[in-house]
Amino acid sequence: MSTMRAAVVDPAGQPPRVIDRALPPAGEGEVRVTVTAAPITPLDLLCASGTSYFGVPACPYVPGVQGVGRLDDGTPVWFPTDAGMKPGDGSMAEHAVVPAADLARLPENVDHRLVAALGLSAVAAWNALLERGELAAGEQVLVLGAGGVVGQAAIQIAKLHGARRVIAAARSSAAQERAHQAGADSVVAVYEQDDVMSLARRLGDAADGPVDLVLDPLFGVAAAAALRTLRIGGRLVNLGSAAAETAPFDSATLRSRSLRVLGYTNNELTAAQKAVTVSEIADHVAAGRLRTAYEAVPLEAAAEAWQRQATGTIQGRIVLTV
Ligand SMILES: NC(=O)c1ccc[n+]([C@@H]2O[C@H](COP(=O)([O-])OP(=O)(O)OC[C@H]3O[C@@H](n4cnc5c(N)ncnc54)[C@H](OP(=O)(O)O)[C@@H]3O)[C@@H](O)[C@H]2O)c1
Repeated sequence: MSTMRAAVVDPAGQPPRVIDRALPPAGEGEVRVTVTAAPITPLDLLCASGTSYFGVPACPYVPGVQGVGRLDDGTPVWFPTDAGMKPGDGSMAEHAVVPAADLARLPENVDHRLVAALGLSAVAAWNALLERGELAAGEQVLVLGAGGVVGQAAIQIAKLHGARRVIAAARSSAAQERAHQAGADSVVAVYEQDDVMSLARRLGDAADGPVDLVLDPLFGVAAAAALRTLRIGGRLVNLGSAAAETAPFDSATLRSRSLRVLGYTNNELTAAQKAVTVSEIADHVAAGRLRTAYEAVPLEAAAEAWQRQATGTIQGRIVLTV
């Protein structure tokens, strides 16, 4: 076999088309993975748009910054790629070639689709809460964007690490239900027309006293409202701008309680560091302690699935199955 089926972006800004593509050869220190599951994430679309801070990607290329599959000996693995950020191919194909050192070995019994669905979103939730956010047992955590994959993972990870109470905020009733399913103690509805003070009041009412740590993939009004719920010395970790690029908070809110507003990106992690966190996440998945809503779609339907991700008409992560 010298060709494989692959989703290919060409040109940037267009959804991928599934075509035959030459089977990639493995070079020095690389291995070929037979892909079983590859998620379509906001980062994949951003990279392929040509408008991200990574610049316009070299086309044609196979998108997919992460995937799950098997090595030739059957070993199940998760792998990251630089697709769309640097020249080279990603995970949305029958095969991917990756540096052997970048792989995370997975438990034999783990659900590949679920690990793919959680992937780097769960890595971000994990490190933003535990490393940047310094979550301590007994703390109260507020998770914004709680119906997204970052949010659902954050609720469960906070609980697994001893948070005494997790409050979740989400927009649609379906997103609120996902937050409930993830184990939030209280779920607050967020509305398009919310202003900072009214949302801050509702979040405060749902909290059991001042909040210790906010996990924020949204920014905008929700982040500004969440800051107002924090205790003296409380922390907000921002890892995305799904709602807005800027947020309306004032100096008095920050300085009156010596708040800490922190940023987080997975891009600071080496591939090996990502793999270490994925291994921990996969152990929790295999044990049934960590999950997220996802929809499995065959690779051949990648273009239509990509469009649905772009228009936001999905309920949970789309995972391409190969
Ligand atoms: N810094 C990092 O390393 C890193 C890593 C992974 C992800 N992220 C970022 O984190 C964000 C969430 O990622 P994800 O994987 O959870 O994505 P996702 O599963 O696609 O979920 C998107 C989330 O954004 C919310 N959202 C979208 N538009 C919104 C708006 N206009 N107002 C309020 N909420 C809005 C959704 O809320 P509903 O559920 O209520 O619809 C949902 O919670 C993305 O911006 C992503 O780029 C950053």
